[in-house]
Amino acid sequence: MDLADLTRDLDALRLRALAAVAAAPDTATLEAIEVDVLGKKGELTSVLRGIGALPPDDRPRVGAVANTVRGAIEAALADRRSGLASSELAARLERERLDVTTPGRPLRHGSLHPSIQAMAEIAGIFEQFGFVVHESQEIEDDLTNFQMLNIPPDHPARDLWDTLYVDVPGHLLRTHTSPGQIRVMQAMRPPIRALLPGRCFRYESVDASHGFEFFQVEGLMVDEGTTLADLKGLLDQFAQAMFGTGKKTRFRPGYYPFTEPSVAFDVECLVCGGPGCPACGRSGWMTILGAGMVHPVVLQYGGLDPERYQGFAFGMGPERISMLKHGISDLRLFMDNDLRFLDQFR
Ligand code: DAH
Repeated sequence: MDLADLTRDLDALRLRALAAVAAAPDTATLEAIEVDVLGKKGELTSVLRGIGALPPDDRPRVGAVANTVRGAIEAALADRRSGLASSELAARLERERLDVTTPGRPLRHGSLHPSIQAMAEIAGIFEQFGFVVHESQEIEDDLTNFQMLNIPPDHPARDLWDTLYVDVPGHLLRTHTSPGQIRVMQAMRPPIRALLPGRCFRYESVDASHGFEFFQVEGLMVDEGTTLADLKGLLDQFAQAMFGTGKKTRFRPGYYPFTEPSVAFDVECLVCGGPGCPACGRSGWMTILGAGMVHPVVLQYGGLDPERYQGFAFGMGPERISMLKHGISDLRLFMDNDLRFLDQFR
């Protein structure tokens, strides 16, 4: 092995390496070439091992050639590396192409349940008359749900409210929101203008107009000098706001143990407007709620002196109001969770 041999070997190595670099299809192959040629155990090192056999004068010349070869290969590697990097990036960008101008997929979001919407609408109207929304409990005691509302045990009026009881003796699922009247009276002093929306439960067989679970909205006003005329004026305003101005309304005598006198409040039939049709049972009227002057006994249970205070109360079913307003014929739709129904209230 002499100087000429080594120089030739180095040159051959350079040519081979440059050809391999030029042909490398990706950066991983480039890495491998770099290790094979320039690495500690690479080809360049093994060629240079022959340097020891040369006369000392020749050694620096081989070193110079080797450095040139190394420099050429390194430059080729760097060049090829940056070329590959940009084409690999271009390929990746192409592969992961994303059209940022594509319109997004709309999120499907929920909406308020029609029962809740009806309660919100009712509350919105009464709030304009100074009524404040209160919440009362869904599990009640017999005392508050019945006895303090002037419905003693074994009284035949209990038949109006078929009751679901809970395991705790003397407790039940409230059959109406009226016990909230007692709770409000016990908690605050007149003047009281309270609105009590809430879920109620009854042991009913379910049909198009009865559910075992439904909402009610209770209203209570107590002050000095409150009269039936105030009640009538308020409910009339409510009916106009809810069903449209100019609607005729009327009071009919009714019966509830906790009000005296008690009334049913009717609005002219929203379908026929008076002459009578199947929707209103040919009467021309639709009953939307029950109401009356709070019974003196109920005021007393609420801790109020009936000589000083008078009050009126009313109770309505928001689902029924919604059915009348939107021409819905079956109460069960409100509890079925059928999106074809619910989507109409979005
Ligand atoms: N609580 C009654 C019911 O469930 C509705 C009712 C009637 C409420 C008359 C009242 C009222 O406040 O005065 O049928």
